[in-house]
Amino acid sequence: MATRTITARVLCLLWAASLAVGCMSPVEDEQIAELGPEVDGLEEGEHHRYGQPCLLCHGGYKAPLFAAGGTVFATPDADIPVQSVVVTLTDATGDTISVPTNCAGNFFIDDAQWQPVFPLRAEIECTLPDGSKRRSVMQTRINRDGGCASCHEKGGPTQTSPGQVYCADAQPEPAFAVAPNCPGGPNGTGN
Ligand code: HEC
Ligand code: HEC
Repeated sequence: MATRTITARVLCLLWAASLAVGCMSPVEDEQIAELGPEVDGLEEGEHHRYGQPCLLCHGGYKAPLFAAGGTVFATPDADIPVQSVVVTLTDATGDTISVPTNCAGNFFIDDAQWQPVFPLRAEIECTLPDGSKRRSVMQTRINRDGGCASCHEKGGPTQTSPGQVYCADAQPEPAFAVAPNCPGGPNGTGN
């Protein structure tokens, strides 16, 4: 199974390189186009495209490939990414990995670092502005890709999405704020 996936990816990358086109179906090409261009001045790196479905591109379409990636926000609908959230994923064999979010609320796990066996259990632990911790656990399991925003679309819940991954049901006191001087996120300028 794992070997087959890797082979498919390698073939896909070779094919894409030779034709200078995307690997995936026209549907995925279109979904990627809909995400729009990079923010001016922000390099393609860990702070870019917060809230977007990382694995749409990092799942085989473009190197580097990620096992998982996503963004954590303050509340169900605030455009406030949260840093230093510990995202813990556990695969079907019980293998666990924990990674922190950066100032754009983003985290990612390179697939050279971790090759999970699906399904995955997801849990986050946020540090609230007052220093207290809040943990929340996804009740169901992730069956196909570790890109959180493949399901958790940015913004509040809708009929087709549980909404963005968040730390608290409402702003705590003191409130979460957008990290100052972050290259990415809502105030990101790339610097
Ligand atoms: C629209 C496609 C797209 C989306 C969505 C996307 N990325 Fe990227 N990302 C890229 C491209 C293209 C590069 C540059 C790859 C290169 O330089 O080889 C890149 C580079 C990166 C790098 C640098 C990797 C390296 O080793 O140089 C990181 C880290 C990264 N992205 C994280 C993320 C995270 C986290 C998300 C989701 C919040 C995300 N990306 C969403 C296309 C995307
Ligand atoms: C296949 C779709 C899907 C993917 C992919 C997915 N989730 Fe979820 N997630 C859901 C759904 C649906 C819920 C609400 C029901 C539940 O808890 O299972 C949820 C709930 C959650 C919750 C609990 C929210 C609460 O009620 O407090 C957390 C935390 C969470 N997800 C984190 C993540 C993280 C982190 C990722 C990426 C590593 C991720 N999810 C990927 C579908 C998904």
